[in-house]
Amino acid sequence: MTVIDLRLAPMAAVTNAPFRLVARECGAGRLTSEELDARAVLHGDDKTLDLARFLPEERPISLQLLGNDPDVLAEAARRLEATGADGIDLNMGCPVAKIVSKGQGAALMRDSLGAAVVFRTLRKAVQGAFTIKIRGGWDEHTINAPEIARLAEAEGVDGITVHPRTRAQQYTGQAPWDVIASVVDAVAIPVTGNGDVRSLADAHAMRAHTGCAAVMIGRGALGRPWIFRGVDVDRDERRRIIRRHLDLIDAHLSPRVALVQLKKHLAWYAVERPGMAQLRQRLFEARDAAEVLDLFWSLW
Ligand SMILES: Cc1cc2nc3c(=O)[nH]c(=O)nc-3n(C[C@H](O)[C@H](O)[C@H](O)COP(=O)(O)O)c2cc1C
Repeated sequence: MTVIDLRLAPMAAVTNAPFRLVARECGAGRLTSEELDARAVLHGDDKTLDLARFLPEERPISLQLLGNDPDVLAEAARRLEATGADGIDLNMGCPVAKIVSKGQGAALMRDSLGAAVVFRTLRKAVQGAFTIKIRGGWDEHTINAPEIARLAEAEGVDGITVHPRTRAQQYTGQAPWDVIASVVDAVAIPVTGNGDVRSLADAHAMRAHTGCAAVMIGRGALGRPWIFRGVDVDRDERRRIIRRHLDLIDAHLSPRVALVQLKKHLAWYAVERPGMAQLRQRLFEARDAAEVLDLFWSLW
């Protein structure tokens, strides 16, 4: 089988530096931060600046911006690039009501004129790779991913990730991979396919079906970062990878954030183990890291 460029999808409150680095160490290609509110970057919001931090070993990494004001986005991009990021990714897919009601995320796909101005302004501001992450369209009547992709290419965007569900679909139903193929046909710049890839076989199937240059995996990597290895990984090696992830959480996150992340990720790691149903509740009720770890390793 040929080697595939597998990438970790940005996931808010999940794909922080420790998890991204574990994915990279398992073989993930270019990384992307979770969405960062451009205005909050400009205001120097502590929580946002924390989320924008990455470890040197994560490079190459792109930081993803959420916004719709071209000048705010451009200034946020400049500041983030000044921290050493290798590129800027524009979020055009977030379906959350309070985001799209501000004209951001997936709402950018409804306004091709506005999107073109954002592309042009950001292109001038970004020195490194400037990429976008889009959906199929707003709803089933307005599937315009190929049109947005052509516009982006004409404005100098370097690459496009396509999660082909519409905003109306949110995360329901099956991701229609045909839409990814239609974007691949529409542009010459690299297209990364995304949506419902849960195994290496799925990744190969997506590439065969769409002709995409890379495959991005989100939920299929939760509790299974070894998916980026591209080969089967035995139990001992999985245990080693989990321990490495736990060490990174401990080393790089504040104690409060670390406890939340520990519970979340260990619950995902435990999914494939028998007895998970009872463990989950107890994990989330545990009061400190030691209790969480005892519970987890008693099962794993
Ligand atoms: C919890 C969660 C958070 C997400 N946060 C982001 C985000 O910050 N930026 C983004 O572009 N996409 C985000 N997504 C979408 C994913 O990147 C991806 O496009 C989607 O989950 C489909 O891929 P999958 O089927 O491999 O999970 C998020 C998805 C989930 C489940």
